[in-house]
Amino acid sequence: MHDFEYRQGNLHCAEVPLKQIADKIGTPFYCYSLPTLKRHVRAFEDPLTGVDHQTCFAMKANSSLAILAFMARQGLGADVVSGGELYRAIKAGIPGNKIVYSGVGKTTEEIDMAIHAGIMMFNIESEQELEVINARAGELGKKAPISIRVNPDVDPKTHPYISTGMKNNKFGIDIEGSMAQYLRAKDMENIEIVGIDCHIGSQLTDVSPFIDAAGRLKVLIANLAGHGVEFRYLDLGGGLGITYLDEQPPNPKDYCAAILDAVGSLGLKLIFEPGRVIVGNTGILVTEVLYRKETVNKTFIIVDAGMNDLLRPALYGAYHDIKPLKQKSGDMSKADVVGPICESSDFLAKDRDLPRLERGDMVAVMSAGAYGYTMASNYNSRPKPPEVLVDGSRYYVVSNRQSYEDLIFGETIPDIFG
Ligand code: LLP
Repeated sequence: MHDFEYRQGNLHCAEVPLKQIADKIGTPFYCYSLPTLKRHVRAFEDPLTGVDHQTCFAMKANSSLAILAFMARQGLGADVVSGGELYRAIKAGIPGNKIVYSGVGKTTEEIDMAIHAGIMMFNIESEQELEVINARAGELGKKAPISIRVNPDVDPKTHPYISTGMKNNKFGIDIEGSMAQYLRAKDMENIEIVGIDCHIGSQLTDVSPFIDAAGRLKVLIANLAGHGVEFRYLDLGGGLGITYLDEQPPNPKDYCAAILDAVGSLGLKLIFEPGRVIVGNTGILVTEVLYRKETVNKTFIIVDAGMNDLLRPALYGAYHDIKPLKQKSGDMSKADVVGPICESSDFLAKDRDLPRLERGDMVAVMSAGAYGYTMASNYNSRPKPPEVLVDGSRYYVVSNRQSYEDLIFGETIPDIFG
């Protein structure tokens, strides 16, 4: 469910015609719908009413300060994976004790920063990381709260690049290893064991891998209880998929019900780290057609947004629906929608049935609210696009288009060239 609909033939975000925003701020731009965001947060939270839980939004999906500030007001915490994300979360008003810190490569500086911020827990991903966190906490005169990210070796049946809970992935510690590390952690002076964690992958369209993983964790929890290791938190990660084309993922209500059925009786506070399911369909990328190029074999629609703005199609071959801002009738024909970047992988859509698009037409690339702006880069020295938040009939530019000065910010030319 989202708020990007045609009204009198013009694509709107809530009450605002997208063309109106484009005329004012230019293209490309990201646009997020606040009403959709509110609905998605409620859709996740309402089934958990009365359940002892904390939802920590996986801000790698969307780390706009405005979006995070909204999450904070809704009582959500954050799942962070870097010092930069931690900084943003705090700036947006998310309290430290609602922040979990995941990721295989936490640096010493990042660990110190998180200890100072008083986070809920570190999700530990290796034996050495556990030792380093113990040492840093000791140095700072604190106890570090931890959980171990268990790699349960289940197949999430998703794109291999976004599958994280199988034996050959770099993430987490396998079940036997986790047992051993918990027993070590128990004796570490500056470590407080508070939780157990897993995250098996992203864009899952079936609940069974989640339930499989939860089942394996349950066995480990029971074994650890036998060794006197107990927990407050059970963190089930994120990963619930969304509809880009015709996927039919479980809705949050069914997902939550299945999880509660599997682990509700353990008496642990449940931590969730959803990203995509909250923000994916709350955002789009609006871009303008620069050229229509017909070759012997193909038609290319060349637009002013590229893989630097939205990387998912280039990186994963991901599908994003394309909708003209002005509804078009007439015959559909196949075309590639491509960006201006000097790479053959710079496409937003391949062999897509589209109405005839001409120079000056604008299109929306749908379902771009998750892993859109956060994966944008300055490749080809292209400034990042602005982000706009729509609330009813008003819209707010929540991040500006980068300027050329922004592109060279912090750069210097050393005085050695003569
Ligand atoms: N927790 C952890 C530890 C994660 O690594 C992730 C995502 C999440 C939570 C949130 O997963 P979600 O609910 O959004 O599925 N760039 C890729 C997705 C990478 C996901 C990485 N980890 C994409 O564009 O599809």
